[in-house]
This record gives sequence, C-alpha cells and structure tokens, in this order.
Amino acid sequence: MLKLQHIGKQFDGKTVLDDISFEIGTGEIMSLLGPSGSGKTTLLHLILGLTGADRGSIRFGDEDLTRVPMKKRGFNIVFQDYALFPNLNAYDNILYGLRNKKGRVNAAEVQEYIDFLELAPHLNKNIGELSGGQKQRVALARTLVTKPRLLLLDEPLSALDGVIKESIKQRLQSIAREFRLTTVIVTHDPEEALTMSDKILIINQGRIAQFGTPQDIIDRPADEFVEQFIIKQLSIKRQNILNLFGEMYA
Ligand SMILES: Nc1ncnc2c1ncn2[C@@H]1O[C@H](COP(=O)(O)OP(=O)(O)OP(=O)(O)O)[C@@H](O)[C@H]1O
Ligand SMILES: [Mg+2]
Repeated sequence: MLKLQHIGKQFDGKTVLDDISFEIGTGEIMSLLGPSGSGKTTLLHLILGLTGADRGSIRFGDEDLTRVPMKKRGFNIVFQDYALFPNLNAYDNILYGLRNKKGRVNAAEVQEYIDFLELAPHLNKNIGELSGGQKQRVALARTLVTKPRLLLLDEPLSALDGVIKESIKQRLQSIAREFRLTTVIVTHDPEEALTMSDKILIINQGRIAQFGTPQDIIDRPADEFVEQFIIKQLSIKRQNILNLFGEMYA
C-alpha cells in the first residue's frame, strides 16, 4: 500500500503541489493524469525520493518514508526519455542497475525479465539500433531487474505508436498482476489512463481534481475541469483520426 497525506511542494516560492492525499493497494496501477505543468513529474519524483516534500507524509505498507532517502526506499523509475547509455549495448544497459550488486546477480531472474519483454534477439544491439518500443522495453527491463517495491513510469507510452503502445500497455498490466508490483504511471492522455489503470489521480495546477476508478471518473466527473479535460483530449484524438481519413480520401 502506498499512502500520501497532505503533500505540499513549492519551487521558488511558487506552489507546485498542494494538499495531495491518496492511497493505492499492492499490485494496483495508478495513472497520474493532468495537463502539461500540472505537477505530475514533480509528484512522481517526490514519491521516488528524488525531490523532498515541504509538508505531508509518504507511507509504504507500515513504513514512514517521508524522510527516507531515495536509495533506501526501494522504488525505481523509468524516465520519460529512457535515459539509456548509448555506449553500452542493450544487455549491459539492462545489467547497469545491478552494477553495485556484482556476485549477487541472479542470472535466471534477469533472463526471466528478458524473456517476458521479448528482448532476447536484441541484447547485443547498440541502443542506436533499437526501435522506440525496443528502447522502452530495455528501459523497463533495466528498472525491473532491480526488483523495485514500487514501479514509477513517466509518460512511458507517449513516444510509441498504436500497436507497440498497446503491447507495452498490456505488458505493464501483466507485470503489475504477476509480480504484484504497485505501479504509478504519469500520462497526459485520458484514454491511456482510462484503459490501463485501477485508479486515476487527476491533477490540475498542483491540486487533486479527482481520484477514483476509471468508472467513477466517466460516470461522475468531479467538476467542469475533469469533464472538459477528458472530453477535450478524447475529441482531439477523434478529430485527428477524422483528419487522417479526410486526407486519405481527399
Ligand atoms: N526544479 C524545478 N525548479 C523550479 N520549478 C520547477 C522545477 N520542476 C518543476 N517546476 C515547475 O513546477 C510545475 C510543475 O512541473 P512538472 O514538471 O511537475 O509538470 P508536469 O505535469 O510533469 O508537466 P509535463 O506534462 O509538461 O511534463 C511547472 O510549473 C514547472 O515549471
Ligand atoms: Mg512531466
């Protein structure tokens, strides 16, 4: 269980997060959904321990992690730009997170993640030789082999196109289920959030606009913002598709 209570954060005197409280259960996927600049990445970094909170508390199970440094939290993140090392091949990138654990690396476990993410044919390739989806899977494998207690992902799907996006989405869902790995995913795409998460936290200008299941949010949007944000984003998508068809048949 991950539980945040009354989290607040300012940068240079400006409030970026205000009174953020929520709780999610073990193995659940929560999407952190909101427009650009709403505070999503800041909140993710705060959970990771990369950024400290000005106020409020962070609990995981029965532990109070509020003042526990990042390395001791046992969480791990996949950054939005993957942050892979171009001078290492795919396999060495995956092992990079285990560099301080030499001799304690369980090769069978590493292989399990490689197989799960279907990376075996790509292990000897340079990062520059991988597609976007393959890079994303390498970044995911590199994070998973460290066996985090909580998986954090910053816009993991935004750079991927339809089919690959769908396959990574399904993999993330099965990882959460099979390994009972609690997962927090940042996205600005309501469709992504609505189709892959158990809970959604909608954030607007650093405040919670709504927290609930996808069903709650569709059935009972908390306010005008939630309604507009979801409908607007979904209709932009629909419009893009219509435009595309327009071009094809023009
Ligand atoms: N290190 C920092 N110093 C000062 N201001 C910051 C810092 N990091 C973020 N901010 C500000 O905090 C606000 C929230 O930023 P954040 O990166 O969390 O937004 P976001 O929701 O992730 O946006 P995006 O969807 O564009 O990635 C923004 O106004 C941003 O300019
Ligand atoms: Mg961000």
